[in-house]
Amino acid sequence: MNSVIITGANRGIGFACALQMAKITPGKQIIIACRDAKSGQEAIAKIQQKTGHAHLKHLPLDLASLASVQQFKAAFEQEPNNRIVALVNNAGIQNIAATQYTKDGFEATFGVNHLGPFYLTLLLLPLMDAEASITFTASGTHDPAQKTGIEPPVYKTAEALAHPVETTEKSSVVGQRRYSTSKLCNILTTYELQRRLANTSVRVNAFDPGMVPGTGLARTYPPFLRFFWENVMPILAYFQRNTHTVDVSGRRLANVAYHKAFRLHSGKYFEGEKVIPSSPDSYNTAFQNDLWDTSVKLTGIQQIETTVVL
Ligand SMILES: NC(=O)c1ccc[n+]([C@@H]2O[C@H](COP(=O)([O-])OP(=O)(O)OC[C@H]3O[C@@H](n4cnc5c(N)ncnc54)[C@H](OP(=O)(O)O)[C@@H]3O)[C@@H](O)[C@H]2O)c1
Repeated sequence: MNSVIITGANRGIGFACALQMAKITPGKQIIIACRDAKSGQEAIAKIQQKTGHAHLKHLPLDLASLASVQQFKAAFEQEPNNRIVALVNNAGIQNIAATQYTKDGFEATFGVNHLGPFYLTLLLLPLMDAEASITFTASGTHDPAQKTGIEPPVYKTAEALAHPVETTEKSSVVGQRRYSTSKLCNILTTYELQRRLANTSVRVNAFDPGMVPGTGLARTYPPFLRFFWENVMPILAYFQRNTHTVDVSGRRLANVAYHKAFRLHSGKYFEGEKVIPSSPDSYNTAFQNDLWDTSVKLTGIQQIETTVVL
């Protein structure tokens, strides 16, 4: 039996994605990769109860720690079902409070949203099925033209994102910019990785779930905004463009990652289930190269650990 791995599948869009995966992959093992074992087990119980899927398993993963990413890979490798048909890099944070750092000293938004998933993906490549898919959950906030209301991204160098100089700007502005820039990094990585895997049948795509109010993404926002996000904004899913319920976005993420209707696509940016162009910056090959080279350096990954040429 092969496996599907979904990061951050204990809640939000990742949970809804795992639920849909359970429906469309009855014969695959689904790995709920998250940092909290209790909520991972609770997610498994809910999915089992709703779908009857018999092969769900939690494995611990903290993307804010390169050692934890290594441990996840080692634990997964010990599994009897250690061939991957789909890797869904879904976990992510938005931190608009004071700057936080990962265990390895990288700015946390960049570390959790980009560097951890980058490292995880490259370490797992040797365990991928020949026709596996890799999907990065990006966001329309990466594209200033989409006017999402979130600060647009600013990409200068990956080094500056990993080790930013503190500014006197409002933390909400800085935090939102770091978030949209990390989502740009997801798309830059998608295109660069796809190019490096072009002589294989492994597919790499980026996915924008749209605005999905009600998830835990707003957890660093002030209480009144959080209340609004959780209790009032979900109604926007009924009439605002590219705004969806958690269930709809999670289902689409699972479909893009695994459903046979999407298996001809690689190196694409999906808004929901539709392929659209991403921002001009996301196609900038100088940014793609800088991000790739710096990420290789910062994670310390060695050529022997992965199948893609570093
Ligand atoms: N909601 C939106 O409007 C929206 C729009 C565009 C893109 N997205 C993207 O969708 C993805 C899912 O977000 P969501 O809205 O579903 O938010 P969410 O409910 O907060 O889910 C985020 C998930 O990421 C996990 N996570 C956070 N830090 C982690 C770490 N250090 N290691 C491992 N897992 C970690 C969380 O685990 P814990 O439960 O342990 O915290 C949780 O499972 C994110 O990549 C986000 O950027 C969301």
